[in-house]
Amino acid sequence: MGEIAAATIFHQMAAGAKEPVYQAAFRNIGRDEGRHMAICMSLMERDYPKLDVSERSLITKQIRAGYLFLSAVLFEPPMEFWDLPEDFIPAQREGEAIARAAGFFIPEYEQKKENWRSAMLNLKGVLDRYNIPFPAIPEVGITGEEISDIDMDDIIPVF
Ligand SMILES: [Fe+2]
Repeated sequence: MGEIAAATIFHQMAAGAKEPVYQAAFRNIGRDEGRHMAICMSLMERDYPKLDVSERSLITKQIRAGYLFLSAVLFEPPMEFWDLPEDFIPAQREGEAIARAAGFFIPEYEQKKENWRSAMLNLKGVLDRYNIPFPAIPEVGITGEEISDIDMDDIIPVF
C-alpha cells in the first residue's frame, strides 16, 4: 500500500518540480518505488495462496496499522493516533505551500488523499483475490472490517 502510494506521489513530485535536479531525483525515486511495489506484489502472489486462514485477520489489522503509520508520510498524520501538537498540521501545510511556491512540488491535500485512497483500493483488489478482509478506512471513505485496537506493537511490523 505504501509502495503504491509512494510510486504515485514521487512521480507527481517529479512532474511538478521546477528544478531539473528535483525532476530527475524524484523520477528516479518514483521508479525505485515502482520496483518495491513489484517486489511486494510478487511476494504476495507467491505467499498468499499458501496462507493459513487464521493469519488473514493479522493482515487486516496490519493494513489498518499501515494506514495509521504511513499516513504521516503519504497523507497527513491522524491526530487521534499520533501524539502531535495542535498546530502540527497547519504548520506542515504552510511549509508545504512555501515549498510548492518555490518550485519543490508537493501534492495538495485533496490530491494526496486521492492517491492514498486509490493505493488502498488497488491493494484491496489484490487482497480480495485471496479472501483477506480489508479494514475500514473511514478517513478516505473506504468501508470494511472495523479495526479499533491498534497500538504501537502493531505498528512495528509495518516497518
Ligand atoms: Fe519503497
